[in-house]
Amino acid sequence: MSVDYLRISVTDRCNLRCVYCNPLGDCGFFEHKEILRFEEIERITGLLTECGISKIRLTGGEPLVRKDIVRLVGKLAALPAIDSLALTTNGVLLEGLAGQLKAAGLQRVNISVDSARRDSYRNITGFDLLPKVTKGIYKAIEAGLAPVKINSVIIKGVNDSEEQIAALAEMSIRLPLTVRFIEYCPTGKHTNPASDYFPNSEVRAIIERKYGPLSSVVEGHSNGPALNFKIKDSVGGIGFISGRTSTFCCSCNRLRLTSNGKLMPCLYSAHTYDLKQLIRSGASNRQILDLLGRAINEKSNYTKLNSLNEDFSMCKVGG
Ligand code: GTP
Ligand code: 5AD
Ligand code: SF4
Repeated sequence: MSVDYLRISVTDRCNLRCVYCNPLGDCGFFEHKEILRFEEIERITGLLTECGISKIRLTGGEPLVRKDIVRLVGKLAALPAIDSLALTTNGVLLEGLAGQLKAAGLQRVNISVDSARRDSYRNITGFDLLPKVTKGIYKAIEAGLAPVKINSVIIKGVNDSEEQIAALAEMSIRLPLTVRFIEYCPTGKHTNPASDYFPNSEVRAIIERKYGPLSSVVEGHSNGPALNFKIKDSVGGIGFISGRTSTFCCSCNRLRLTSNGKLMPCLYSAHTYDLKQLIRSGASNRQILDLLGRAINEKSNYTKLNSLNEDFSMCKVGG
């Protein structure tokens, strides 16, 4: 599998406190000087395009809390080799930014919404912001940041009720978006007990009991971790990202850059490459390209999610 996709975490800060991401409240840890500057992100991305990267996803923490994010989107969109530019957000700041992001060259957004029920959303994220996020979703659709995808992490005993899963799935019946159900993944030393885990096979069974059999959809442009389906006569789609029950490592096409400049060959890499240190020590493009080549080669060593780094934090890596 060729490596053509780069996920860039632009900040480790976040304006929410989702239980599954940030169990000990450790978001926003890096000092300002630790964080890559826009010129550094641009330089690294430009060099990575020489190594085959053509798709970029911006993540966080929450990417929209990074000052001047629209300017960064514009700079990355202007790189000639980039043919796909997307962003994963919690949607809190999307209502005001969707139009500007689209105008700057962003193509699409994935938005985290773990419950369509206001009280449950507040319990999971720590904030009563579902109405605001919902406005952000409508704005994203209106701005043409398509296809809009909703990410819902299902946790046992929290948002796994038939009623909550059906309400999330129902959004795909009436709106032009794909609702993706994501299996809850362990996060390093904060690893969550297996008892919190709710398999996607059960999510699917709930949806099919309520709305009938799902039909499979083959997505031409995507080779990400999601399997895609449709409820009959729906406008949108349903996706499943089953990181716990299936491994897609063999077909993984992605690299990750953390906000403090570490390149990760895998989401769960125990080993990272310190690009920030190399750049700030005055390295030449040749030296940086050497390191990028080594990181890409190392990807073939990851074939299972069994290399979980002790310090792994979803908040710092950006999913
Ligand atoms: P698309 O390009 O829209 O398919 O994006 P995506 O699904 O790759 O990105 P998103 O940021 O929306 O991530 C959704 C979920 O997929 C998150 O829970 C991520 O942690 C998970 N995910 C993304 N890439 C990988 C991966 O390489 N391995 C694993 N195990 N999970 C991943
Ligand atoms: N398990 C699975 N998915 C997670 N995300 C954050 N933390 C976890 C976790 N522990 C997802 C969020 C977000 C995406 C970038 O990562 O739903 O949409
Ligand atoms: Fe923030 Fe996303 Fe983590 Fe929630 S999952 S705390 S929105 S970074």
